[in-house]
Amino acid sequence: MYYIGIMSGTSLDGIDAVLVDFSGPSFSLLHTCYIPYDQPLRAALLGLNQAGENELHRAAILSNQLSGWYAQAVGRLLEKSGIDPGEIIAVGCHGQTIRHCPQPENGYSIQLVNGALLAELTGMTVVTDFRSRDIAAGGQGAPLVPAFHHEMFAHRDIHRLIINIGGITNITSLPVSGGVNGFDCGPGNMLMDAWCLKHTGMTYDHNGSWAESGRVINPLLENLLNFPYFSLPPPKSTGREMFSLDWLQPCLRGDEATQDVQSTLLQLTVRTITDSVETYYPAVRELYLCGGGAHNGTLVTRLQQQLPGRRINLTDALGIEADWVEACAFAWLARQSIERAPGNLPAVTGATGSRTLGAIYPA
Ligand SMILES: Nc1ncnc2c1ncn2[C@@H]1O[C@H](COP(=O)(O)OP(=O)(O)OP(=O)(O)O)[C@@H](O)[C@H]1O
Ligand SMILES: [Mg+2]
Repeated sequence: MYYIGIMSGTSLDGIDAVLVDFSGPSFSLLHTCYIPYDQPLRAALLGLNQAGENELHRAAILSNQLSGWYAQAVGRLLEKSGIDPGEIIAVGCHGQTIRHCPQPENGYSIQLVNGALLAELTGMTVVTDFRSRDIAAGGQGAPLVPAFHHEMFAHRDIHRLIINIGGITNITSLPVSGGVNGFDCGPGNMLMDAWCLKHTGMTYDHNGSWAESGRVINPLLENLLNFPYFSLPPPKSTGREMFSLDWLQPCLRGDEATQDVQSTLLQLTVRTITDSVETYYPAVRELYLCGGGAHNGTLVTRLQQQLPGRRINLTDALGIEADWVEACAFAWLARQSIERAPGNLPAVTGATGSRTLGAIYPA
């Protein structure tokens, strides 16, 4: 039961792709592939996050171009594995989000990928557009990973939290009894990445070292934390429309040391996580991190300091390495689509019911 999952998240860092096997009693992650975006592609994608000239054309061309990158990731996985393309049941490809507007009236979420072209380029069945059906059913279309987290990481006797620190941070709660829960709690790496790029030319702050060299500006932090999104009750999801340097700018005096702002942005990510944990899951003792932010040592150290008495580990400890959880989730969501099984969790997204997600492009 081979599936390929492809995730390219809001960080715009690149493509995570996995080849997995769902046969047998346990799931196995067989091969992985990461392809970083180059600067022109990242800039073009970032440019489509706002209104701009001839954007329909630019979006269509970029979807085609991205499909070429996704096909390359598929090719590399096949090369590594030696598995025949005909044995892959389907490729689940999230696509690249350029707009996420899940409001109740006229909601939509747009992920760039040309599923038809990807099917042509790979000769495989492709599943894309996972979010639209949930939004059509009244949901946020996000987060979609909690159902997979539940399948893989739930424990019979221990309430666990899975915290994915990607561009945005999302939390999944896996209680012993009662329903799975989850929501986007705020920016993960997105603001830190943007500030770091602007002031150092680096796409991210490796290990949070630059942030660590600065000091948290508490009035700025409190000001940012006053933003209404953070106190909004779930279900909720967010993206680049809400959190960007344009969001940060009006809160700055202009004379702050740049490393102090970086330190404050890192603390914002830490605080939005710890506040969510304290507010909604105060009794939980086991937290598992995934996503690129899980490699940010400064961030993890501060999280541990702010959440004493909790065990914080990477999802590696539960059998899936932190970098690949989201891509595995889209392989799983593709399987759900192919098997006409539900992919969303209405309690998480706010949809009126369970739905089979995705648009299928047969091989
Ligand atoms: N060693 C590291 N130190 C600090 N930050 C890191 C490190 N490795 C990765 N990151 C951060 O992780 C980001 C990429 O994370 P990831 O790919 O999980 O996010 P994403 O693409 O937005 O995914 P998703 O939307 O699926 O959560 C990078 O942009 C960077 O900010
Ligand atoms: Mg990524």
